[in-house]
Amino acid sequence: MQADDQIGLALTAQAGDTPLSGQFSPPGDKSISHRSIIFGALAEGETNTTNLLEGEDVLRTVAAFRTMGVKIDRQGAGAYRIHGVGLDGLSEPDNVLDMGNSGTGMRLLAGLLASQPFLSVLTGDGSLRGRPMGRIVKPLTQMGAQILGRDNGRLAPLVIQGTELVPIHYQSPVASAQVKTAILLAGLNTAGETRVTEPAVSRDHTERMLSAFGATVQRDGLTVSIDGWPTLTGQSIEVPADISAAAFPIVAALLVPGSDITLTNVGLNPTRSGIVDVLTAMGGRIEKLNPRTVGGEPVADLRVQHSQLKGIEVPPDVVPSAIDEFPVLFAAASFAEGKTVITGAEELRVKESDRIAAMAKGLTAIGSNFTETEDGAIIIGQPDGLSGGATVDSHTDHRIAMSHLVAGLACKKPVTVTRCDNINTSFPGFDGSMRGLGANINRALLA
Ligand code: S3P
Repeated sequence: MQADDQIGLALTAQAGDTPLSGQFSPPGDKSISHRSIIFGALAEGETNTTNLLEGEDVLRTVAAFRTMGVKIDRQGAGAYRIHGVGLDGLSEPDNVLDMGNSGTGMRLLAGLLASQPFLSVLTGDGSLRGRPMGRIVKPLTQMGAQILGRDNGRLAPLVIQGTELVPIHYQSPVASAQVKTAILLAGLNTAGETRVTEPAVSRDHTERMLSAFGATVQRDGLTVSIDGWPTLTGQSIEVPADISAAAFPIVAALLVPGSDITLTNVGLNPTRSGIVDVLTAMGGRIEKLNPRTVGGEPVADLRVQHSQLKGIEVPPDVVPSAIDEFPVLFAAASFAEGKTVITGAEELRVKESDRIAAMAKGLTAIGSNFTETEDGAIIIGQPDGLSGGATVDSHTDHRIAMSHLVAGLACKKPVTVTRCDNINTSFPGFDGSMRGLGANINRALLA
């Protein structure tokens, strides 16, 4: 590997002379975007989306369905028309399906493809090939799926010989929407009722959207069930802005003195909005304006004003509804008054990177008083600001990159982050959007 490849796109963030101000709508929700493509492909008739996230993860899902014979037209920015082929209309892909960096893409497709009458192979980048796949291979195998993978089916690439499945009631050991959805997608093409019970409720976009497409999906406490062989009917889907993307400008505005910004059209599904509750409990001024429902999902505009945050003990039951926001929460807590304690978040270790270790390393390098624990962190905040003045690595993880850049806006000296290219997986145009608010984030000038 050449030096350039190790650095990739490097960005530098530094405190500016002005507060952050203005408004914009963050990109479309990644989870809802993936599901719009998948359910749209499986429906009868057309599905039309607006504001679909055109990040690399979702574009991989679009490409995979095109390879399986689904016509998907791009009609404008975020506007896609999916010509659904029905539950039994996919064709055998004539090549490996490369899901890139996307755990959602790989796990959801594995569930779907397990019951399709053809062979498929799913692969991804180095990060994705290192992430646990046993969590979906195990329940799918219990349904009768034939899946081979490296390390006894624990790692991708996955080779799936689709076959007829039987319904199961799976007790999932993790609160994971990817596991839940993989099983429900396998259940779509399986006669009878397939059920999943989770230890805590994970994001429920699948349940909401599949019901809207016409499936019978029922919830009873922590158990969700689906009846096999529904007829899905194409829908119009307006994708709300992603709370997981919004979290970065939210924390930036809380940290940069004098800031006052508004983020419009942000999805606030209660299974996703834990970060707003946690930051509010820390003293963050976040107002929900104009609450409304868009495409079956609660949405509001968020006004965020600079606030002196206070450390708290983050209740572990908030973890599933804020799972992707912990890296930026670690950054926020580094500037809070007092101690923040995070527990019950061991899932962070199997995301696009080990997010506890990656944030511990990067935040410590820029001056945070950060103690890594097995399932979280203990952070003693420094309200006077961190020193900064270091270059940190993103570990090719989009959220690690953006979290350090947000922290850099409130540090005494600039913070440079290397290998920022993967920001495109979830927040294309991140640096430009942040500059639009007045943030000082630019391409790094590396010697
Ligand atoms: C997602 C579920 C979450 C989340 C990921 C998207 C989804 O993963 O971290 O970014 O769209 O279902 P887990 O289900 O593994 O917690």
